[in-house]
Amino acid sequence: MTSRLLSPLDLGPLKLPNRVFMAPLTRARAGQPGDVPSELNAEYYAQRAGAGLIVSEATQVSPQGQGYAWTPGIHSDAQEAGWKQVTDAVHANGGRIAAQLWHVGRISHTLLQADGAAPVAPSALVAEGANAFVVRPDGSAGNEPTSMPRALETGEIPGIVEQFAQAARRADRAGFDLVEVHAANGYLLQQFLSTNSNERQDRYGGSLENRARFTLEVVDAVIDAIGAQRVGVRISPHFTGHDIADGQAEESALYLAREFTRRGIAYLHVAEPDWAGGPELSDEFRQALREAFAGVLVFCGGYTAESAEARIASGVADAVAFGRPFIANPDLVTRFAEGAALNKPDPSTFYGGGAHGYTDYPTLGQAE
Ligand code: FNR
Repeated sequence: MTSRLLSPLDLGPLKLPNRVFMAPLTRARAGQPGDVPSELNAEYYAQRAGAGLIVSEATQVSPQGQGYAWTPGIHSDAQEAGWKQVTDAVHANGGRIAAQLWHVGRISHTLLQADGAAPVAPSALVAEGANAFVVRPDGSAGNEPTSMPRALETGEIPGIVEQFAQAARRADRAGFDLVEVHAANGYLLQQFLSTNSNERQDRYGGSLENRARFTLEVVDAVIDAIGAQRVGVRISPHFTGHDIADGQAEESALYLAREFTRRGIAYLHVAEPDWAGGPELSDEFRQALREAFAGVLVFCGGYTAESAEARIASGVADAVAFGRPFIANPDLVTRFAEGAALNKPDPSTFYGGGAHGYTDYPTLGQAE
């Protein structure tokens, strides 16, 4: 039974035909040079237009915000034009798409930064055990331990807030229906939120409210740029990758959820950590998030059609996002509707490469 999962949902200005979201998925296949979305990327997203909402792969708001080679940006005119062909292709197939706006903070490397500069972070603390993905001077590509970051000056923070606002304006011009602020997975915004990665003494560090200030300033700036009803935010409380260990993960998430409610944003997207190795969220915490946030609440991480249906039936979730199942099944919604078997994703083609493992997973019709 998937009757609730496949039922319509109002999301900001959009009427979604179903509650199956495509999760943001980095695929490291942006056109080179310039990290520009290409025709191949447009084909990939258009194949997945059956999703209630597609959330794009994480997309850097500035060169400084990049931590992996070949990921797309949304800070140049060429990138904006590249994204326009993606959103046009999705819309032509009847779909809807949000842009996930990303600044990696300390999850980067001097090789990815202008003039070999240090990546930026709330505090000069290296993310132990974390990698960036780089193209080395000899042309080889691979993971390298992240570089030691430098702490942002207080006076630099408005400039990064503006990078997000500018990216939101570009996303709007590129035809995206919504934007999703990436405050999850141990990147810059979560580095400010988390107790172990933020040792600042200014108004962006110390108390929970101070640690959350940067995220809320980014959200406010994005709201000013395109309107609250076109904004979503992704958080990942209890995420433990990228050297994140937040002593106030739940309090912080609930504080943000209440602040987002006051601002009237369209949706809150909760990445559950279990897929990435962290602890499972408790039912009590999920329920508390439901009570704290008045908009559309989305969960993601390890769901099947059955468990997603149950989550929505319980009243806790309005929608569920699927990551790996969407990589391997462009027609995931049709397969759910028909109770059909799913193709299995091939992790060896998740990141980088071309059409293989990207646009060549068969639909049900093609498999027959
Ligand atoms: C991800 N995930 C992810 N999350 C995010 O917020 N932005 C991103 O760009 C990416 N990129 C990404 C790439 C790949 C290859 C994977 C597998 C995952 C996390 C993703 O959105 C989702 O939370 C997880 O995949 C768990 O959901 P599933 O796959 O169990 O449905």
